[in-house]
Amino acid sequence: MFFAKKNPLKGRDIISIHDLSKEDILYLLHQAADLATYNPRLLPDKIIASLFFEPSTRTRLSFDAAAKRLGAQVIGFDNIETTSLKKGESFKDTIKMIEQYADVIVIRHPKEGSAQLAADLSHVPVINAGDGSNQHPTQTLVDLYTIKKEKGKLEGLTVGFLGDLKFGRTVHSLASALGLFNANIVFIAPKGLEMPEEYLKELQSKSVNFSQTSDLQSVAQTLDVLYVTRIQEERFKNKKDYKKVAGSYTISKELLANFKQDVLVMHPLPRLEEINQDVDDTPNQGYFKQAGNAVAVRKAILASVLGRV
Ligand code: NCD
Repeated sequence: MFFAKKNPLKGRDIISIHDLSKEDILYLLHQAADLATYNPRLLPDKIIASLFFEPSTRTRLSFDAAAKRLGAQVIGFDNIETTSLKKGESFKDTIKMIEQYADVIVIRHPKEGSAQLAADLSHVPVINAGDGSNQHPTQTLVDLYTIKKEKGKLEGLTVGFLGDLKFGRTVHSLASALGLFNANIVFIAPKGLEMPEEYLKELQSKSVNFSQTSDLQSVAQTLDVLYVTRIQEERFKNKKDYKKVAGSYTISKELLANFKQDVLVMHPLPRLEEINQDVDDTPNQGYFKQAGNAVAVRKAILASVLGRV
């Protein structure tokens, strides 16, 4: 399938991976590959609002870097303590203000559905940088870009998701997207952190091939990509439940000996003990590549939504 020649993203919100067709995704990946190599000043007259109601390092800073590489200015906050939200101002009023100050809003919020709410309130495009355990569509674009670059293709790969599949928004978005590319998906989760039923039903309805197991070793030889995630401690209501599963899996160089030689080990980061540091220097390491690719992909997202490519 070919990507669209004409920008299909201009003026659009990116709230969920479901907002993007396969053609939209291929268009963005193509633009990202192009913008990875140079920094045209496409956005010198644009202001990006960066509203982070939840901690972030890569997502916020790579959006920031992407905007600045293209000549845009960035306003916003990464801590609500310094804003009028602290005085009790509503989310709605905050968005109604900021839409008048910026040309696009990038938002991360702990509550599921808040990016959609912002989009409903705003006349300028809204990009979801993570809403609770729901969706993280721009991370998915970074992940797809990295898979394509490292494996040479997106179609027909066997991808294992290991970790917190219940609360991990990056998994929820990426699994849906991989369904567009004839992936075989294997979900590997500790007890209680399995992929939620609603996502499994969605994959079923789209005839995506998937299976579930709690035994990583039994599928190790089949995987082209192993996507590892952090247990999302902040989403647990009961810390005792977190303690039960914390540290229950670790990918190490020694363990990788049981996998395909060229398995790509991915992680959206931050990692805790899920991936041992001895994997960092192996050819299988993909997670720092993801973090690096984030800038090119987010340049493509901003330039496309703002209609400059
Ligand atoms: C992820 C997130 O925020 O969902 N991080 C990221 O954006 N790269 C993953 C995580 O926090 O575990």
